[in-house]
Amino acid sequence: MSAEQDLVKVMKQEVGKAAAARVKSGSIVGLGTGSTTAYAIQFLGDRLKSGEIKDIQGIPTSFQAEVLAKQYGIPLTTLDATDRIDIAIDGADEVDPQKNLIKGGGAAHTREKIVDSLAELFIVVVDSGKLVDRLGSTFLLPVEVLPMAIAPVTRAIEKLGGKPELRMGIRKAGPVITDQGNMVIDVKFDRIDDPAGLEKTLNNIPGVLENGLFVGVTDLVLVGEVKDGQAIVREF
Ligand code: 5RP
Repeated sequence: MSAEQDLVKVMKQEVGKAAAARVKSGSIVGLGTGSTTAYAIQFLGDRLKSGEIKDIQGIPTSFQAEVLAKQYGIPLTTLDATDRIDIAIDGADEVDPQKNLIKGGGAAHTREKIVDSLAELFIVVVDSGKLVDRLGSTFLLPVEVLPMAIAPVTRAIEKLGGKPELRMGIRKAGPVITDQGNMVIDVKFDRIDDPAGLEKTLNNIPGVLENGLFVGVTDLVLVGEVKDGQAIVREF
């Protein structure tokens, strides 16, 4: 691992730890997806194991989050069994100055949006490389699509001015299949001037399940950054 990769790992660990530290006993916790949230799940499990907190239950946003929760001893529940989520912790691929997000780098944005938007407190955990002035500047926008609608949805997105690409698997022939059995189209838009409008427009295309724009959902962003060679966590 290069020195730069080491620093990114430490930033992710520190924000994960800072987010896990905010979970109180008795909470129902939305468990996000991705490499940064994975550290939050690990630290949450450590706090539970040490007795520092008790009686928490997790609601996973993906197969990955479910596996990690089981590995670190966090009991799980479902949205059928509870009518509240106290706190959700999740990563992001881009964060703009209004705390709007692009998510879906792990193809889990549909379940993430359900869980994160239900949470009383939604905390986003990112390293400083994820902060952007305008959404869509560094990351393509993921859109989850029912497989039988891939062709018409692709055409509809092109009509909106987007450049769609079907997300392909790595070490798997063919497209990425989501936890729900769907596919993901990653879309390049030259500019996303109206994230709230685009979020609705995309979700109105028949066959689209959900897109990765999270507008007005975030309460708090914890940013891991490096200052004087040390990883620190700042809030925004
Ligand atoms: C998964 C996501 C992730 O939260 C996002 O991709 C960030 O992941 P990482 O912390 O690994 O950079 O939206 O669908």
